[in-house]
Amino acid sequence: MEEYNLNPTIQLPPQLSTFAPEIDRIYYFIYWVSVVFFVGIVGAMVYFLWKYRRRAGSKSSPTGHNNALELFWTFSPLILLFIMFHWGFQVYMHTAVAPDDAMNIQVTASRWKWEFLSPEGSPSNNEVYVPVGRPVRLVMSSQDVLHSFFVPDFRVKRDVVPGMFSSLWFQAVDRPDENPNDNELYSVQVFCTEYCGTGHSDMMATIHVLNAAQYAAFVQQGPPPPPGLTPAQWGGQLFGTNCAVCHSREPGVINNYPNFHNLWGRQERLADGTTVTVNEEYVRESILNPGAKVVNGFTPAMPNFHFPDSQLNALVEYLKTLHE
Ligand code: CUA
Repeated sequence: MEEYNLNPTIQLPPQLSTFAPEIDRIYYFIYWVSVVFFVGIVGAMVYFLWKYRRRAGSKSSPTGHNNALELFWTFSPLILLFIMFHWGFQVYMHTAVAPDDAMNIQVTASRWKWEFLSPEGSPSNNEVYVPVGRPVRLVMSSQDVLHSFFVPDFRVKRDVVPGMFSSLWFQAVDRPDENPNDNELYSVQVFCTEYCGTGHSDMMATIHVLNAAQYAAFVQQGPPPPPGLTPAQWGGQLFGTNCAVCHSREPGVINNYPNFHNLWGRQERLADGTTVTVNEEYVRESILNPGAKVVNGFTPAMPNFHFPDSQLNALVEYLKTLHE
């Protein structure tokens, strides 16, 4: 059973994926080999500088040759190099080839956001939800320039290139040291690590790691509201990105779509001559099945939206705020 160091060290962040420990072991091996050689070589240099310094009356003699010494300092680094290559290649193969049962998530990078598409759930920007203890494979591409997907806590990093797919995988480990909140066990930060323009340093995303029950709730109800937002505020954001382009909230704006100024609670005349009150039930139906009740004077032009329940509820909460 692998032990994970859940606390950051001076050099490295916590080990939150299953292959973090093996990557750290080879990292520290190479690090300490480098430290030993650095101290040895620089130490010898300084010692020889002092030993063979210029002194009055002392003259250098020609150097000799020592086969045994030459063989030693040629082959011992070579052997170390073979060890590093072989070991590194093994770890590389382990991290490069995802297990067959891995869950696939599509990632599309563009300046300057990460868009995730999970098998369950709707696309989301800069937020992705993964189950703990299950292998997850990301299949990534870019819409514009080179980006690079980097999760230090998971020890994964891979370039994201326009015109091709690259992939990486990880399996998040449990964190019994952190108190889980209702929605997730913990979350880790994603960075873009290939300079991609002015927004490069803001191009970050969050991976939310969920336990089995939380993941089941996510699949069924959709993602929870982003931290710090009330459902109505979240609904306002969703309205802004999904609905505002057609439905104006300004008084008196007339276009081809119903105006939402003072929407909530008003009486809407429908194409079939009946009237309906704008309430939860009507709004829900109109989002999921826009053709069911068409407002008088408008053509049924709205596409079906497949919001998960959590987002649908947030939208309803927001629409409730549109009243006199
Ligand atoms: Cu995307 Cu840097």
